[in-house]
Amino acid sequence: VGGAVLSLALPGRGEPRSTPAPVQAMIFPKGFLWGVAIAGQQAESVPASDWTKFETEVFRDHRFAQGNQIGATPPGDIHDFGRWPEQVRTHKAGFDLHYDADIDAAARLGLNAFRVSIEWARLFPRAGMTEPDPEAIAYYHRIFAAMKSHGIEPVVTLFHYVSPAWFFEADAKGKRGWERADALDLWKTYVDAVAQNFIPEVRIWCTLNEPMVYLYDGYVIGSYPPGEKRGDFAGTRDVYAALLRAHVEAYRTLHRVASTLGAPVSVGLTQNLEVFEPYNRFSPLDRGLAWVVDKAWNWDFLDAVANGHMRITTTDIDLPIEDLAGTEDYVGVNYYSRNYVRGDWRHPFAPDVGNVAPDQPGEEHNDLGWPSYPRGFYEMLTKVGKRYSKPVMILENGTADRADDDQARQRYLVAHVREAWLAQRDGVDIRSYIHWSLVDNFEWDEGFDARFGLIAVDYDHDFRRTPRPSAALYGDIAHANGLST
Ligand code: NOJ
Repeated sequence: VGGAVLSLALPGRGEPRSTPAPVQAMIFPKGFLWGVAIAGQQAESVPASDWTKFETEVFRDHRFAQGNQIGATPPGDIHDFGRWPEQVRTHKAGFDLHYDADIDAAARLGLNAFRVSIEWARLFPRAGMTEPDPEAIAYYHRIFAAMKSHGIEPVVTLFHYVSPAWFFEADAKGKRGWERADALDLWKTYVDAVAQNFIPEVRIWCTLNEPMVYLYDGYVIGSYPPGEKRGDFAGTRDVYAALLRAHVEAYRTLHRVASTLGAPVSVGLTQNLEVFEPYNRFSPLDRGLAWVVDKAWNWDFLDAVANGHMRITTTDIDLPIEDLAGTEDYVGVNYYSRNYVRGDWRHPFAPDVGNVAPDQPGEEHNDLGWPSYPRGFYEMLTKVGKRYSKPVMILENGTADRADDDQARQRYLVAHVREAWLAQRDGVDIRSYIHWSLVDNFEWDEGFDARFGLIAVDYDHDFRRTPRPSAALYGDIAHANGLST
């Protein structure tokens, strides 16, 4: 184990050399969760969802025919969606067809956690339903039973960007989705059904996945459904507030049902944390904007959950949300990369956020252009630990690497596990490391070419799965409960 892990622990091309390779074992506390994550829409068929509707429209419009560059997908498109066979467009990674084998593969790697989402659009595919679809309930029972039989702890997300398509039909006032007057009631029906059916099978819950990404892509730039282009976070205010209220509702409902059943639950949400650095560190404008973007993107939403006030940086929005303060048992962290923020004095409020900086010439970028910056993982974990004094669950970390040698993913994995260990050594109460992802899957508007899987999926041959070298490496890490010498 150690040999393989150690040789890969050496800094890769262009990585900062500030953290030396481990000379002692970096072992995590007993009971630490090592897992993998996927989400419904990205891995299986969800016929009644808003995303499926969007995909169908993209396909029908033949916009795919133009082809596009990975990492440069224009808003409102899906990278090369039409290139794939129908069963791939429908079933994505084919998790719904192969979940037994996938869960078995995770268990054989020695993993003890598996993050999936329950899809609202599966439970309530039609408007007006008051009871969930029994087949959908049975499907998730089968998945959780398979996990249980392998000693795998399910970690379940309630909202991973996706809702039923009917949720976006206009209400009497012409409002759609989270802005409908009855949005919270509709969500409540879904959350009640989930809590009643899946507690105590599931103990660890994540109410919302990356709310800022949803707000930004869905409502600021419109690259995800519902495709609104409102230009800034002020314009997302009502959706922002609705998501916070949805979180409170889910937190309270899950705890209420759990206490009735005498079954413990742990409930939180997960945030996409990105490092934002000034493009030019000597420019006061770049520095100021990097601070602002960091505040707005990384901390506003988490601060709201901690203190009960929705405050959106650079706006005068300051809205108390009833019962919100402290509704989290852990803080969820998804970490991938860093960005550089550049200002232009002619448009000082329109920062340009990019992946390349002039003073980081050798920085390694993944297939989506995201820089690998392991040290930022440590920085973010320690900031979260200090800011909220709560247990931290790493619910996503990973990289897009389609190279056959799989070297970049292996370097990325070891370097990030190391930084997580350093953060826990320095006092952050980290409970899990969950890798994105077990298998290649549908990367939203980036389509299928971004390969995040420890296990490769052959989309042209019936979803055939082939483990990449990083799968065995991750298995070694899980078996050792960290990086051994
Ligand atoms: C964040 C999201 O939760 C997930 O859906 C996505 O595939 C990964 N990060 C990689 O971008």
